[in-house]
Amino acid sequence: MSNLILAKRQLAPEVTLLEVEAPRIQRRWKPGMFIIIRPNSNSERIPLTIVDSSAARQSITMVIQAIGKTTKEAVALEPGESLCDLVGPLGEAATMTTGQKVVCMAGGVGVAELLPVAKAFREAGNHVTALCGARSDNYRILNDELIAAVDELKWATDDGSFGFKGNVVQMLLSLAGPGTFAEGHVIGPIPMMKAAAEATRDWGMKLHASLNPVMIDGTGMCGGCRVTVGQQVKFACVDGPEFDAHLVDFDELTRRNRAYREMEQQVQAHQCRIGLDVL
Ligand code: FES
Repeated sequence: MSNLILAKRQLAPEVTLLEVEAPRIQRRWKPGMFIIIRPNSNSERIPLTIVDSSAARQSITMVIQAIGKTTKEAVALEPGESLCDLVGPLGEAATMTTGQKVVCMAGGVGVAELLPVAKAFREAGNHVTALCGARSDNYRILNDELIAAVDELKWATDDGSFGFKGNVVQMLLSLAGPGTFAEGHVIGPIPMMKAAAEATRDWGMKLHASLNPVMIDGTGMCGGCRVTVGQQVKFACVDGPEFDAHLVDFDELTRRNRAYREMEQQVQAHQCRIGLDVL
C-alpha cells in the first residue's frame, strides 16, 4: 500500500487537511476511530482521528494541526508524496443512540474530529446540535461540512469575532440546561472536556468524551495511553478513545499528558528511537 497523498487543503492557520489513499482502512473505519501515522521513517508516531472517507477514491481524510516537529513534517508533504506508515483503523467506534436530542461539542482542531461523529448521530435518527469553538473567525474549520451534517450549528470564538463570545462550555450553559439534551459527545482540549463534564454532571444526560492521551503503539501494549475511568484503568487506544465523560479522571490525564512536555520542547536534540528503521 502506498499511503499516497491525493489532496491537501489548508483549513486555517496551522491546520491542514490531507486525503490519503488507504483502501483497506476506508472499507473498515467507523466514526470515532483513529489512525497512527509516521510522515517519514525517522518520525514519531502521531494518532489522528479519521475525519472522512471516499469509496470512489479509496481514500481517507485526516486533519493535522502543525504544532510540533512531527505534525510539521506531515503537513510539509505534498500530493504525490506518501506517508511512511499508516496504521488503522484503531480504537472503538463512537457510541450511538437514536431518536434523541444530541449535543456534539468540540474545540480547536477537535472540530474536525467531531464531524464524522456528529454526522453519524444524525444518520442514526437523532436531532444534532453542534457547538464548535475556535480562537477567532479565521480559525473556524469545516463550517460548510458541518452545516450539511447537523441540524443546528453554533460557533463560539474566544475574541467574539464570530458567533458567541467565549468558549464552547460557556455557550452550552447559555442555551441549555437539565433536560435539553439526552446525550452528548465532546472532543477537544482537556480543560474544555473536563468543564463540559462538570457542567452536565447533574443534567441527567450521558456525555461521551473522546480522549487524547499520549499514544505510542496504539495496540494496548505500551501503557502510554493509560487513563482512569470510574476508578478502573483503561487504555484509550483499545478501550476508547471514547469514555463516559462523567467518570474520566481528567486531572490525571492532564498530568500524564504534561509528563513529556520538557522533552517534546527539545525538538532539535530529540531523536525518536521508536521508528522501526532506527531501533
Ligand atoms: S498507545 Fe500503547 S497502550 Fe495505548
